[in-house]
Amino acid sequence: MSASQTSPFVTLPKDRDPVLRVMPMPADANVHGDVFGGWIMAQVDIAGSIPAARRAAGRVATIAVNSFVFKQPVFVGDLLSVYADVVKTGTTSITVSVEVYAQRQRLDAEVVKVTEATLVYVATDDARRSRPLPAL
Ligand SMILES: CC(C)(COP(=O)(O)OP(=O)(O)OC[C@H]1O[C@@H](n2cnc3c(N)ncnc32)[C@H](O)[C@@H]1OP(=O)(O)O)[C@@H](O)C(=O)NCCC(=O)NCCS
Repeated sequence: MSASQTSPFVTLPKDRDPVLRVMPMPADANVHGDVFGGWIMAQVDIAGSIPAARRAAGRVATIAVNSFVFKQPVFVGDLLSVYADVVKTGTTSITVSVEVYAQRQRLDAEVVKVTEATLVYVATDDARRSRPLPAL
């Protein structure tokens, strides 16, 4: 971060609960010792599927990852809080916005938003075919 940039520190959202809280271990690190982006992508996909499956009232499959930004690095021992909200639905599809915050070394004091992503899930049946979303 250059001196002209503002502080990355934020607070955890107070008005909603994370769908997932998880801590990366040394086995999740890349060759440089920081957390591997693919591990974070897996956590985001799992988190996004939770509200999607709730809205679909059953099985869903990820059909697209339409945006994914790693805003800050994640370190081994960070406590990640993953927030996921349905932002759009179609006939069979559910678009979910996912935000990941890290509490550095498990301390509440330093919180940074590390990832933002938008994923699309499709409600599927037992034969893995798409099915219409149930009415609300
Ligand atoms: C999910 C699957 C069954 C859907 O097949 P399908 O019904 O023929 O797919 P369609 O092209 O008709 O698209 C289904 C929905 O997804 C939406 N969609 C498709 N591609 C999309 C994209 N790139 N971005 C956003 N939405 C997309 C369509 O608009 C449609 O939405 P709607 O019904 O709400 O209008 C099939 O694509 C599949 O099996 N994919 C693999 C899923 C998987 O295994 N994921 C895990 C990772 S490997």
